[in-house]
Amino acid sequence: MRNIGRMLLLAATGVAGLSVASSLMAHGNVTPQAVDTSALPDIGEEWLQHNPYRGNAEAVKIGESAYGQNCARCHGLDAESGGIAPDLRYLEVGDSGDEWFVQRYQHGSSHDGKVYMPPFGDILGQKTGWAIRAWLETKHQE
Ligand code: HEC
Repeated sequence: MRNIGRMLLLAATGVAGLSVASSLMAHGNVTPQAVDTSALPDIGEEWLQHNPYRGNAEAVKIGESAYGQNCARCHGLDAESGGIAPDLRYLEVGDSGDEWFVQRYQHGSSHDGKVYMPPFGDILGQKTGWAIRAWLETKHQE
């Protein structure tokens, strides 16, 4: 499934993202924006539980832009939530915060048959996710 998602994404980015966009419409009207992570070290296919890019300046830069394109509409510009979704500046820093982050990023959040947050794992991939997390940690507040 993960590979199929990635192949679809690759195919779809070539033709204006149509199939990805329409498959996502079903999960809350989010059109994912492709993110160029080629400048970041490869981290393989298996999902990691802890951020391999923590403190990586290139990842922070990519993550800021990826956040703005994919997360800000719900979580707020510059990670300051306007109240629609949790304020991500308060996510715990370090490894245990990483585990919670990657769980939500991969699978999103649904309950009582409603999608509160769409899953991003298969669509944007883990390099993008960890880049976003690296940027978020620079915005952390207690
Ligand atoms: C459609 C709106 C929406 C989008 C887009 C969205 N989220 Fe969320 N997110 C939510 C909501 C709502 C919750 C709370 C879910 C719940 O409590 O069940 C949430 C929860 C989270 C959490 C857990 C926060 C906590 O304090 O428990 C993380 C981490 C997170 N989102 C990261 C992201 C990232 C990263 C992106 C972009 C790749 C993103 N979200 C995009 C709506 C969204």
